[in-house]
Amino acid sequence: MSYKNITYRLGILASGNGSNLQAIIDAIKNSTIPDTQIVVVISNNRKAYALERAKLENIDHYYLNYKEYNSKQGYDQKICNIMTSYNVDLIILAGYLRIVSSPLLTVFNKRILNIHPSLLPDYGGVNMYGIKIHETVIANGEKYSGCTVHIVTEEVDKGPILNQIRISVDRNDTPQTLAKRILKYEHQIYPNTIREYLKKLNKE
Ligand code: GRF
Repeated sequence: MSYKNITYRLGILASGNGSNLQAIIDAIKNSTIPDTQIVVVISNNRKAYALERAKLENIDHYYLNYKEYNSKQGYDQKICNIMTSYNVDLIILAGYLRIVSSPLLTVFNKRILNIHPSLLPDYGGVNMYGIKIHETVIANGEKYSGCTVHIVTEEVDKGPILNQIRISVDRNDTPQTLAKRILKYEHQIYPNTIREYLKKLNKE
């Protein structure tokens, strides 16, 4: 791959499978997100398949064990230093299961995006993650769910919303089938929103 025309540099934080990371990698390859490169992937989970995906794509990747740091801020400072050393323009949380704290939020103010598998502001916040979101949506008899891309701010899942896809909850849906259906839409909405947001950043 030639990086001659690279304008934007993405840094990714991921904790798990990394299917959203893969969707972004693919979107860059097929120019859905043009002029962009993922320069670094960082995970808090040594076993995250996201790290393997990065390796397969020759993207620099790091596992950072938070137990080796004295505080949450210390850990996030390390992430911040790595992101800065790679000249990252925009940080993408792709299934990242830790709450991002001040050093990162300050240095990368309005330059961290997250995807959440619900129609925020509903079913967001510190305790709403993973399958629990879909279990609660179904238990509450919601007719609709979906996914939301937003800017990350101090308040978990409460930053400005950039984009949302709404889908129907079927009567036969289980938390698992709902999660799977929503994930497919995440893979569309995230690359598209990243592309549009990068254009906006470029104009500022
Ligand atoms: C996605 O549903 C994402 O919205 C949520 O965690 C899941 C992670 O998926 N934050 P993946 O690791 O990108 O496959």
